[in-house]
Amino acid sequence: MSHLTTIILAAGEGTRMRSARPKVLHEIGGLPMLGFSIRAAHAAGADTIAAVIGPGHDAVRALVAAEHEGAEVFVQDERRGTAHAVLQARPVLERAEGVVIVLFGDTPFVTAETIDRLARAVEEGAAVAVAGMRPPSPAGYGRLLTDGDRLVAIVEDRDASEDEKRIGLCNGGLMAFDAKSVLALLEAIGDDNAQGEFYLTEAVALANRQGLAVATVEIGFDEVFGVNDRAQLAEAETRFQEGRRRAAMLSGVTLMAPETVFFSHDTRLGQDVTIEPNVFFAPGVEVAPGATIRAFSHLEGATVAEGAVIGPYARLRPGADIGRKARVGNFCEVKKAEIGEGAKVNHLTYIGDATIGAGANIGAGTITCNYDGFSKFRTNIGAGAFVGSNSSLVAPISIGEGAYIGSGSVVTDDVAPDALAVARGRQVEKPGWAAAFRERQKKK
Ligand code: UD1
Ligand code: CA
Repeated sequence: MSHLTTIILAAGEGTRMRSARPKVLHEIGGLPMLGFSIRAAHAAGADTIAAVIGPGHDAVRALVAAEHEGAEVFVQDERRGTAHAVLQARPVLERAEGVVIVLFGDTPFVTAETIDRLARAVEEGAAVAVAGMRPPSPAGYGRLLTDGDRLVAIVEDRDASEDEKRIGLCNGGLMAFDAKSVLALLEAIGDDNAQGEFYLTEAVALANRQGLAVATVEIGFDEVFGVNDRAQLAEAETRFQEGRRRAAMLSGVTLMAPETVFFSHDTRLGQDVTIEPNVFFAPGVEVAPGATIRAFSHLEGATVAEGAVIGPYARLRPGADIGRKARVGNFCEVKKAEIGEGAKVNHLTYIGDATIGAGANIGAGTITCNYDGFSKFRTNIGAGAFVGSNSSLVAPISIGEGAYIGSGSVVTDDVAPDALAVARGRQVEKPGWAAAFRERQKKK
């Protein structure tokens, strides 16, 4: 395949989002939507990726840099149309060879395969290749004007006549260009239209006038579903989730109530994982084969090893590393902590900045007191240790292998292996005291 340059347009104002955040940073499956376009370009084998962003959008710039090392970023100071936006990447266009693809940052579901099909149309001789699609309702989209099989021009919705508005075949948005002619074509585009913008879509009529070949590649509407407001953002999320749920099930994961389970873009689940209803996977979660995530659990930045059981009602926060066949039960929170093989943290517990050895049993209501308001401190619990219910472990602290902690202890000093530590007031009993007390009160 020849060289592939991708220019992603992300400078539109996105005012319909009614947001202080640039539109392309709004997330789908926990990933800013621009990330999807960058990844698709990458997956299609683009050797150059450039983005055109809005002025002052430093967070967009940072995202581009994080997603693709070496990506070039250009700023479009004023919104003057899609062709004007592409021209902001002039240095890239000037040295481009092979195929130049223009993607939009607000259509996150474009696949690498479609990018590849458009690129091939250019390799086979087209100067311009357009992705055609048939949306349920064509209103708002550019219409493809054809003469037989030949694409003659694209007319934007606002500029279309009543007859043209009846055309169902629409412009999906992304377009491919032959690098040899792209710059001359874009420079020839004017702004004589309803919006006074420089439309990239004008390139089609211009190419025809210059006797250059134009091709249409038909794609599914789903791929170019665009996000312009928060209602469409929610619909994009729904579409993303439906795709992920299906993919998870087909790869061997049991979802008891698929419509209630939410995934992130990077959620990884092994074979025979079972997920009960109402589970949320924030970014960075990996679950190994055979593990079970029970109802109403929230996981983020966590790994769960084979056969472990999480929940119901568990919260795994970043750095939670749950060992094989370990258990984290209801109303337990685990953060930055390794839970060893077969260890049990079953009820109402907070484990943070800790290491818990294999087979240890952490009683109900145990708290690792890891924070003094300034710094975080670690707790180490040895293999096979038994921490009695309602204990506070004041870090930094180390509890030796096989040690016992009496229930209700506030443990401030290290405990030796196999020792018993009890750190609570000793029980005092005064026989008959309560009855005598009541008598005194009655006489008063
Ligand atoms: C565009 C197409 C239309 C197509 C539709 C598919 C043009 C002129 N029209 O219309 O034919 O049916 O997509 O969704 O291309 N942008 C900039 N700078 C600008 C203008 C736009 O960066 O000056 C970016 C936007 O951020 C957006 C993309 O280009 O990501 C498309 O612009 P938008 O205004 O959304 O175009 P549509 O009206 O949707
Ligand atoms: Ca749009």
